[in-house]
Amino acid sequence: MASKTLIPIRVRRMDYDMSGLRRYWYKDNPWITHFLNALSTTFPDGERFFIHSVRNFEKQITDPELQAQIRAFIGQEANHGKEHEAFNQALIDQHGLPLESKLKFMKGALAWAKKQWSPRQQLAMTAGFEHFTAILANLLLERKDAIADIPGVYSDMFLWHAVEETEHKAVAFDVYQEVDGDYWLRVRSMAMATFFFMLVTLRMQHSLLKHDGKLGDWRSALGFAKFMLFKPGMLTRIIPQYLDYYRPGFHPWQHDNRHLINELIETLRSHELRPAEAAQATQAGVMAASGAVAAA
Ligand SMILES: [Fe+2]
Ligand SMILES: [Fe+2]
Repeated sequence: MASKTLIPIRVRRMDYDMSGLRRYWYKDNPWITHFLNALSTTFPDGERFFIHSVRNFEKQITDPELQAQIRAFIGQEANHGKEHEAFNQALIDQHGLPLESKLKFMKGALAWAKKQWSPRQQLAMTAGFEHFTAILANLLLERKDAIADIPGVYSDMFLWHAVEETEHKAVAFDVYQEVDGDYWLRVRSMAMATFFFMLVTLRMQHSLLKHDGKLGDWRSALGFAKFMLFKPGMLTRIIPQYLDYYRPGFHPWQHDNRHLINELIETLRSHELRPAEAAQATQAGVMAASGAVAAA
C-alpha cells in the first residue's frame, strides 16, 4: 500500500524561550492550566514510545515515500519531546511543580507497556494515540481564539506541535496498515489508548491541583468545564472525529484539513533555528546525552 499522506512532512528544529512562565499561564485558570501541563508532562516519553513502536517495523516498509515519512515523523516527534521537556523543566524550575514523580511514572508505565505488549500492539496503540493528538491539534487549529490571549511563546509552541501532528497524522496509521492492518486490534487498541490517556492526564491534573490547594476553586473548575464542553469544547467537539476511527475503511486523511496549517507554516519560520544553530543544538544534545549515559 502506498502512503496516502497529502502534504510534505517537514522537520523543524525550534527553540522557544521558556523564561518568565506565569504559574497559571492559561487565562489565570489553575484547572485548565494544570490540564494542559499534565498533557505536556505525558509528551516527551509518550513521543519516544511512538518513535520506538514505529521504528520496530521500519525495515519491513518497502515504499520509499513511506520510508521518508517515517524518518520525518521520527524527527518531528523527537523535537516535540525536546521542547516539551524544556517546558516541563520550566514548570519545575520556575514554579516548583512536582513533575519529577509524574515523569518517572510515565517512564515506568511505558517501560511496562514495551514488555507487556507485542510490537504490533504497541504500533496499534501508537496509531490510536496519533489519531487522538491529530484531532486535538485540529481543534486547536480551528479554534485559535481559544489560545489567542495566552502568552505568545506558549501559544506558538502548541500551534507548532499542532501543525506537525497534522502533517504526520497518517504515518503510524499507514505503517500499521502496511504491516498488519487488523481492524479489531486497531479499534481495541484505540479504546485502550483512550482509557490510559484520560486516566493518566486527569490523574496528573488532579495531583497538580491538590499540590496547589486549588481543587476547591469552583470558579476555575467551572471554567474548565466550559473549556471541555463548550468553548472550545475540547471534549465534545472531538467526539465525531474520534468515533470515525472505529469505522472500517477509515484513513486519517479522509478528513482533509490542510487549509488549517498552510498559513501557519510561514509563521513558524520565525522560531526555527538556522541550519548551523540546529546542528550545534543537536551536537550539544548528543554530548549531554552521552554524558548522562557515561554517568549512569
Ligand atoms: Fe508530537
Ligand atoms: Fe505525533
